[in-house]
Amino acid sequence: MIEVRRLQSAEEMAPMFDLRARVLRPGAPPEENHFAGDDDADTIHLGAFVEDESGVSRCVGIASLFRDNGVRLRGMAVDFEWQRRGVGIALIRHAQRLIEQAEGEMWCNARLIAVPFYEKLGWKIEGEQFDIPDIGPHYVMRWRAE
Ligand SMILES: CC(C)(COP(=O)(O)OP(=O)(O)OC[C@H]1O[C@@H](n2cnc3c(N)ncnc32)[C@H](O)[C@@H]1OP(=O)(O)O)[C@@H](O)C(=O)NCCC(=O)NCCS
Repeated sequence: MIEVRRLQSAEEMAPMFDLRARVLRPGAPPEENHFAGDDDADTIHLGAFVEDESGVSRCVGIASLFRDNGVRLRGMAVDFEWQRRGVGIALIRHAQRLIEQAEGEMWCNARLIAVPFYEKLGWKIEGEQFDIPDIGPHYVMRWRAE
């Protein structure tokens, strides 16, 4: 079972920085895994937890919601051995439930490889493809509550 909950203390957020480093920015300097606004009071960090065989809960997926031209989803990552097992969907659905009652929409810079994932969850491409140096091609994508 996948449980999504908010990460708040420094201890809870440590696995988030580890996942950002390993999944999103392998080889990049550690400071690149801290994003502007990470510590802002209105930033929401979400973690997806699963239990291992011995019943220990482990954070295997992350996503953060920042105030940046509305609500911006950033730092979306699932640990390698947990990809394509529904963790990403659980995180985005949780974020969508939070946003649909409030701002009603959010956006992200989606890596090309993740575009089908966001589309499956109702996100739409906006504008032209663009390049983020050292990471690769992206699209702006936006989700709006119905
Ligand atoms: C992209 C990512 C967040 C998706 O999370 P996930 O837990 O692997 O995805 P889910 O299992 O919830 O995916 C559900 C659906 O999304 C789509 N999807 C997910 N990853 C995909 C991929 N790499 N290519 C194509 N479709 C994909 C599929 O339709 C998938 O359903 P299926 O497995 O039944 O075909 C995750 O694979 C990841 O962290 N990738 C590396 C980092 C990254 O690219 N982050 C996004 C930055 S914008």
